[in-house]
Amino acid sequence: MSVVLEAIETKKRGGTLAEETVRAVVAGFTEGSVPDYQMSALLMAIFIRGMTYEETLALTRAMAQSGEAYAFPDCVDKHSTGGVGDKVSLTSLPIVAACGAPVAKLSGRGLGTTGGTIDKLESIPGLSVTLSEERLRQQVEEVGLAIVEAGDLAPADKAIYALRDTTGTVDSLPLIGSSIVSKKAATGAGHLLYDVKRGSGAFMKTPDEARGLARLLVRLSESMNIRASALITNMDTPLGAAVGNALEVRESVRFLKGDPVPEDLAHEACLVAAKLLELRGEKAPLDAVEKALSSGAAYEKLERFVRAQGAGPDALESLPISGTVREIPAPRDGYVTGFAALGVGRAALALGAGRTKKTDEIDPAAGVELLAKPGDRVEAGDPVARLHGEREVDQAGRLILQAIEIGDEPPAPAPAILDDL
Ligand code: URA
Repeated sequence: MSVVLEAIETKKRGGTLAEETVRAVVAGFTEGSVPDYQMSALLMAIFIRGMTYEETLALTRAMAQSGEAYAFPDCVDKHSTGGVGDKVSLTSLPIVAACGAPVAKLSGRGLGTTGGTIDKLESIPGLSVTLSEERLRQQVEEVGLAIVEAGDLAPADKAIYALRDTTGTVDSLPLIGSSIVSKKAATGAGHLLYDVKRGSGAFMKTPDEARGLARLLVRLSESMNIRASALITNMDTPLGAAVGNALEVRESVRFLKGDPVPEDLAHEACLVAAKLLELRGEKAPLDAVEKALSSGAAYEKLERFVRAQGAGPDALESLPISGTVREIPAPRDGYVTGFAALGVGRAALALGAGRTKKTDEIDPAAGVELLAKPGDRVEAGDPVARLHGEREVDQAGRLILQAIEIGDEPPAPAPAILDDL
């Protein structure tokens, strides 16, 4: 019997796979000797039977070592499980770098309602997200901050994820955990914070799912010699006010310059930065964060970083934000009790800020600005959102009206940080 058929038989009956078996199957699938139909059968057996921690770690290791890998043991990195208006990398990493913790980040593009840091960065005129390994290392040394597009790291994960996407096997905790940590391990940062989003606009809908994933990510990372911790953060409503690529960069610039931004964004950016500094042994991380912001050092770090990656000197002041604008009025008087992240994300997608398929062209200038957040009092007719862009504006407007909830009483305040592991 072939090793993959044996693995399918074992998992089908609820048995446990040995590390060598996992390694052989992953290697065989990556090089093409294990066909898609057998790998799909194995993934479905794993989906149904689950995996022990040791099996999950074996899968993580095998995928992490399936291609090129970097080593940045001194650096910090963060990973978000994805959300709407999630600009925490753009806001927290310049702070961390300004505090002396180097950042080498390999990032991805957005898909569906989930934005991607690479798309946001590409909305900055002139900025390049591809650097050779040598340039990446040099920039980390000289500037202390580099963010580039993840290339061919963990190719086994890429191939397995594509199969999971078409075989109903994405939403399996051991498969998600090993997929995320294999890529992070191949990126090579020695200190890692996971931002696990929970809520309507997130992959994880319930507190138990989010906590289970956060614990698994931290445990797998530590087994791979990465110092890790995790936050569970609220994604029932978008983070901050801006959703869309250039709009989110503009909001990040405002935050780092000390201009007012919604409290949820400011709080989360500072806490993520502090947790990253803590992982590197900083004794008073919140004080360091406060100093980096109030001195202007964090904003200067952002400017140096975007210039090092090819942007012109005034790129952050000349972001391509669409001037084709429509404001959406509140349908009634009352308090905003909810502004569903998923609905706002869909509106931004309709305007062209994101892609439904990997090959779609996005409009970096498009997106949504929320003019009211949960807890705010509005009168009928007050603008609650501003749409930027030219594609499917009517549909986006309808989605915003479905996403907003207005009631007679103010809602209980919803914390931005739900758990800290
Ligand atoms: N993100 C990943 O990188 N992998 C998964 O399996 C799910 C989300």
